[in-house]
Amino acid sequence: MPSLNDIRSTFLAFFEKNGHRVVESSPLVPRNDPTLMFTNSGMVQFKNCFTGVEKRDYVRATTAQKCVRAGGKHNDLDNVGYTARHHTFFEMLGNFSFGDYFKEKAITYAWELLTKDFDIPKSKLLVTVYHTDDEAAAIWKKVSGLTDDRIIRIATKDNFWQMGPTGPCGPCTEIFFDHGDHIWGGPPGSKDEDGDRFIEIWNNVFMQNEQFEDGSMVELEMQSIDTGMGLERIGALLQGKHDNYDTDLMRSLIEASAHATSADPDGAGKVHHRVIADHLRSTSFLIADGVMPSNDGRGYVLRRILRRAARHAHMLGAKDPVMHKLVPALVRQMGAAYPELVRAQALIEETLKLEETRFKVTLERGLKLLDDELAALPEGAELPGPAAFKLYDTYGFPLDLTQDALREKGRTVDTAGFDAAMEEQKAKARASWSGSGEATDAKLWFEIAERAGVTEFLGYDTETAEGQIQALVIDGTEVTEATGAVQIVVNQTPFYAESGGQVGDHGIIRTDSAEIRITDTKKVAGVFIHIGEVTEGKVTKGQPAKLEVDHARRTAIRANHSATHLLHEALRRALGDHVAQKGSLNAEDRLRFDFSHGKAMTAEELMTVEAEVNAFIRQNTPVETRIMTPDDARGLGAQALFGEKYGDEVRVVSMGELLGSGKGHDGRTYSLELCGGTHVKRTGDIGAFVALGESASSAGVRRFEALTGQAALDWLKAQNARLAEVAGLLKTSPAEVADRVKALAEERKALANEVAQLRRELAMGGGAAVSKETAPDLVVNGVPVEIKVYKGMSGKELPSMIDSLKERMGGGAFIVLGGEGDKTSVAVGVTAEHVAAFSAKEAIPVILRALGGKGGGGRPDLAQGGAPINLAEISEREIADKIATAFSAEQN
Ligand code: ALA
Repeated sequence: MPSLNDIRSTFLAFFEKNGHRVVESSPLVPRNDPTLMFTNSGMVQFKNCFTGVEKRDYVRATTAQKCVRAGGKHNDLDNVGYTARHHTFFEMLGNFSFGDYFKEKAITYAWELLTKDFDIPKSKLLVTVYHTDDEAAAIWKKVSGLTDDRIIRIATKDNFWQMGPTGPCGPCTEIFFDHGDHIWGGPPGSKDEDGDRFIEIWNNVFMQNEQFEDGSMVELEMQSIDTGMGLERIGALLQGKHDNYDTDLMRSLIEASAHATSADPDGAGKVHHRVIADHLRSTSFLIADGVMPSNDGRGYVLRRILRRAARHAHMLGAKDPVMHKLVPALVRQMGAAYPELVRAQALIEETLKLEETRFKVTLERGLKLLDDELAALPEGAELPGPAAFKLYDTYGFPLDLTQDALREKGRTVDTAGFDAAMEEQKAKARASWSGSGEATDAKLWFEIAERAGVTEFLGYDTETAEGQIQALVIDGTEVTEATGAVQIVVNQTPFYAESGGQVGDHGIIRTDSAEIRITDTKKVAGVFIHIGEVTEGKVTKGQPAKLEVDHARRTAIRANHSATHLLHEALRRALGDHVAQKGSLNAEDRLRFDFSHGKAMTAEELMTVEAEVNAFIRQNTPVETRIMTPDDARGLGAQALFGEKYGDEVRVVSMGELLGSGKGHDGRTYSLELCGGTHVKRTGDIGAFVALGESASSAGVRRFEALTGQAALDWLKAQNARLAEVAGLLKTSPAEVADRVKALAEERKALANEVAQLRRELAMGGGAAVSKETAPDLVVNGVPVEIKVYKGMSGKELPSMIDSLKERMGGGAFIVLGGEGDKTSVAVGVTAEHVAAFSAKEAIPVILRALGGKGGGGRPDLAQGGAPINLAEISEREIADKIATAFSAEQN
């Protein structure tokens, strides 16, 4: 008996043999669809190939596609566990032709695979075609030899397949299997068709039309094929079962559930095991594809499924969380076909455990409340809306969980009453934010959030996605169309909105009629605001849009953000545990990290930190993200981010592996931080880290600035170029620049001394102009006084000038002046034998006063001071006259 894994392989191998490219399943979160919640069929990833908008390097493809039908338009959640063929998660096997083969080949392939490779008796098969599709009916007759009564024409939309209100579509043919007359039911189109005897196993769609928003439908130029066969259905059939849950794969999960709960798989708890087996698959695959439990959007669908599973586990009497224990069984079954399950196994287990553990706290009390409410109601009465709302609001019971619990008791909920209670709560919230003094601007975003829901962020996993434009805002007012500067809200976006130090993304938003350049992204009340300018055409509210983040810029931002985490840890290790983040900036061109530390870092500390960050970059280990409670994260020693508020769960980003030392937060991880930002996949993606330096930011806070990746390399290159330029100017090699500069500095010093010496000699007029034969400028108290001006000479040099004057001219007093501009230095020197008659110390104030200055001081043989005269504007003679006048006044 073939296993589901065998059947999947056989299907893909059959089409590969027939020239089809085996393409991987696309993620459960569609990126090429503006409104689809989850991928719900194989053709989703090929949507644009059918319309010809997108070309690939193959025209035939085959896939086993992961699908989720829960939440949104296709929602099978309510029936799961109770019926034979409903799932929240299933696999769709499909073959696709993009403008290549059409009806004849598709039908031939299908017939051959079913009757030959799968060996299904021809007598058990029958087909339907669209009532006007004579061509398909004729091909079936020719290929299969089925009699006319087994080629049934159907006029309803059952045989005209459309992926949604718009997009590629066409008539289809469905293949049915007859499980035999021991089961009640009639063939398709008959009055008993809803019975379970004739089961549809394969839908082949002849994609030949495109449906537009205005209701018009056109013929596509290309004729294509899209088929879908549920693996669980064909599996049941080939394994001789009637119920999908009896297939080998589903049965192994049911048995794992029975084992974990010690409850008979086929006993009273049968439905619970089936629900658990199904929900295990959808929740695990959703988490593997990046969805995390939350209170909105996809995350809330995941949470609803999980809480439902938790209730069913509870009904089986499980005291501890169950779901995470079943993950190994799922990985054993499906890990080979879907390696993402293996990669994300730890994350899946952790998330399931956390979610179930937390819900268990309120589950029991909620169920008790439900029982009490029911007991107080008349027999068979609906559960009133306010009670269901209380279960939702206080105990975390999603409405469908309450309905599921009541279903077993044959009761229902007053959903209108529930909605009314919900609306009342929203109105209260509204009143509080409109009356809380928030800026009027904030009120607008709250209104949009309430109407359209918060924006779903897809940017952890993708940089491009499609979304639907939900609001356009110009100058604080909502508009329905826009040109020029505009703020745009989309239901889902890959654009990161500024927070936690990481700057908002830039990029392009395109619609059918416009192109908008986005130059910043912010968020208010959970609404992402794309700020930009319509550069082409006109954008209209409601349009589908393609969003594309500026990839190069985001790559640089990611590298800087991840490097900041490594830097934080390196600083803590180099400087001590007092290092705490005080702020940060992760921009595209640099990173800045402010941290508490009382003094400047030494050059050595800087080098140590830089080297350590680079060592962890080179280690090139994966960067991991997990979701946990804030307490658990702190328990692991995660570094809390500055100024952030934390909700029920936090994102924990870890990077770097400690080898041997065992000194990491959890004994193994180097950096562990609570962070909502976007990060590199592996530390090696940071490329390189260059410290630009460190400076004071505010009291007790230092600021570290650095570059990473290409910017770091560019900076190093520029430094190198500068060094090469300097080496060229010095006519030496870069390696010898330092020695050369040292030698030059010494040479310069020697030259300066020489120049000073020469200048002194020159000032002396080469010794000739000054001689003791010349009459003194002035005689005071019988002492000959010489006055000399040396323009440009500094005060420091004047005493040595006096010395050489004494030497050349013999005894007397010498007044010398030097300096530049308005600052003139004056020195008076007296030879020993004249000191009694002419004290330099007493003369200096007189001289300075004569020149308009004051003060001065020194010894009787040498005194100095300054005067506010400009030697360029006054002659030596004038100076001598002023001094002579002063001294004669002094003597009288
Ligand atoms: N796209 C088709 C379906 O989902 C094959 O049934």
